[in-house]
Amino acid sequence: MQNTSSLDRLLDFLGQSPTPYHAVAYLSKLLDANGFQKLEESGPWSTLKPGKYFIVRQDGGLIAFTLTDDPLDQTGLRLAGAHTDSPCLKVKPQPAKRKINYLQLGVEVYGGALLGPWFDRDLSLAGRVSWSEENGGFSKALINFQYPLAVIPSLAIHLDREANKKKSINKQTDLVPLLQLTDVDESFEGLLIEQIEKEHPQARPQQILGHDLFFFDVQKPARIGLHGDFITGARLDNLLSCFTLIHALIHSPEPQNSLVILNDHEEVGSVSTAGAQGPFLKHLLKRLVPESERRQQMLCRSLLISTDNAHGVHPNYGDKHDPEHLPTLNNGPVIKWNANQRYATDAVTGGFFRALCQRTGVEAQDFVMRNDMACGSTTGPLTAAEIGVRTVDVGVPSLAMHSIRETTGSSDYSALQEALQLFFALAPKDPLWTGLNQ
Ligand code: CO
Repeated sequence: MQNTSSLDRLLDFLGQSPTPYHAVAYLSKLLDANGFQKLEESGPWSTLKPGKYFIVRQDGGLIAFTLTDDPLDQTGLRLAGAHTDSPCLKVKPQPAKRKINYLQLGVEVYGGALLGPWFDRDLSLAGRVSWSEENGGFSKALINFQYPLAVIPSLAIHLDREANKKKSINKQTDLVPLLQLTDVDESFEGLLIEQIEKEHPQARPQQILGHDLFFFDVQKPARIGLHGDFITGARLDNLLSCFTLIHALIHSPEPQNSLVILNDHEEVGSVSTAGAQGPFLKHLLKRLVPESERRQQMLCRSLLISTDNAHGVHPNYGDKHDPEHLPTLNNGPVIKWNANQRYATDAVTGGFFRALCQRTGVEAQDFVMRNDMACGSTTGPLTAAEIGVRTVDVGVPSLAMHSIRETTGSSDYSALQEALQLFFALAPKDPLWTGLNQ
């Protein structure tokens, strides 16, 4: 039975992180409270002393790391990664639409969202806005309305008799949230200015200049099931992994030279300043070890555990899995394999992770996609290719991936956290680590 307060902390984090920016802000506070020093990428660092540090990029990407006295080129880095973003609906730049007597907001679909579950949900809005100040200045901040302010009602079955047999969703015309009846004429900009003033009393917003605003379901994440076997909630892919990695680094008894990277934009291809196919990690590694020869030695001695939720087998759709590879919930972390490098796992990295789990008393499970279905991917192969580091792709088994409400087991995240805690604490002389570097 895992520690209930740790589960409460996970649920609190999920509930308070409707966007990647809010997730990074939450984790930054947590790191700060646990003795990690925030570094500004724009500042001079010179040589960092042994200690605990973190950096934030573009509000949606975060790297936390611990340094010991041992030289990085000799010890390598124990690396772990996850992504902060999740599929959802993003508000368009000029979103207001007036139709019949409703005020609606136009949205774009962010990432590969499962759209059906977005209907008939109590939706709120959160994200990031920029504005001009009374004094001519430019400001930006996060906002979160928190309360349900919109809904996308389904069409009644009486008006679509075929709905239970076939239902296709037009992203332009069907997915337009209703905000209010237009008898009160309120501008969307006015609404944003009011919210900025409420959350940031010092601000004097004159005009909204830009926004990254996302709809989210206000239903809180929860532990459910007859005996509490499941967690349900939005953004379990992949905030559960973000939470687990940061907690593992914070609680690792004696962390070695270790680093956690949380990338933004995985769900839309990872090509961005804070994405896994961008320079975020490379920039940091260059600053940690400026000399390329030594940096190369460090990378050759390092290993990345890339964590992103895996597909657990669904009892109603068991034939969607390869019959010999059926990951089940609460049975341990999943190692993901793909012959075509959609996952970066190989005999060495996958074997290492399995041995790591065994040392914590947990048996890892294996996932491979059926040959007659397309395989997804994740940040593992991208980071492996960007910096040339050995990588294993793993994750906790989950159901309903990319739905507005996903399901995982209630104990897998703590098994993953234990394995990661051990990983970050693996001494340079530990036979598991030395075996890897023979
Ligand atoms: Co994911």
